Amino acid sequence: MFITFEGIDGSGKSTQARLLAGRLEKDGRSVVLTREPGGSPGAEEIRRLLVEGEPDRWSAETEILLFTAARRDHLERRILPALEAGSVVISDRFADSTRVYQGATRGDLRAMVDSLHTQMIAREPDLTLIIDMDPDAALERGLARGSGEDRFEEFGAGFQHRLRAGFLALAEEYSDRCVIIDGARGADDVGADVTKAVLDRLS
Ligand code: ADP
Ligand code: TYD
Repeated sequence: MFITFEGIDGSGKSTQARLLAGRLEKDGRSVVLTREPGGSPGAEEIRRLLVEGEPDRWSAETEILLFTAARRDHLERRILPALEAGSVVISDRFADSTRVYQGATRGDLRAMVDSLHTQMIAREPDLTLIIDMDPDAALERGLARGSGEDRFEEFGAGFQHRLRAGFLALAEEYSDRCVIIDGARGADDVGADVTKAVLDRLS
């Protein structure tokens, strides 16, 4: 099973991905917990180009190419081998992030994103958990981390609001695999909903 977490910056995806991995491992499942951009050595190198530096460092079009290159390496070298070995793969972000961040927030580039996805990735998750919350609160959480990986946070609050709308629209478009989770609660309450969605899908 291939599970992805999606949502705006700071919504709690990484926290929930970690909690879910721990829970599934405790149940005796083999779990690979990974993230994008990154997840394989080559893709982690590309990650640095994308998340650090000035917001205008790359155009949205160049970002589409870099994220897709990173994803292809991650898929070939980490995700597909793990799925073939029978592991549950949990990825903190995947192709839906490109659909929203590059495809829908700085002009309508969705056709370009979809075309590259079809040619280079052609794989969808079995289940996508979209952690939804107010962008202003999430931005505060995200920037408070002081991770130095804030290039996308620095596009500002308006950008985060467009992202949220983009993820909610995506949940409708891919309603067969997407579940929206209210992220504006304590991590344990959010985690309980995540577990329920995963157990529903596993059965
Ligand atoms: P994301 O991966 O979506 O950017 P993180 O899981 O890294 O989000 O969370 C962003 C920040 O908010 C972290 O400092 C984390 O400890 C904190 N955080 C995560 N989940 C919650 C929650 N449910 N309530 C309050 N703070 C949270
Ligand atoms: P991530 O480390 O998940 O950021 P955060 O913890 O703040 O949610 O991802 C890094 C940034 O890359 C994030 O701002 C979203 C962006 N991103 C895209 O723009 N397109 C993509 O395809 C992916 C995977 C991430």
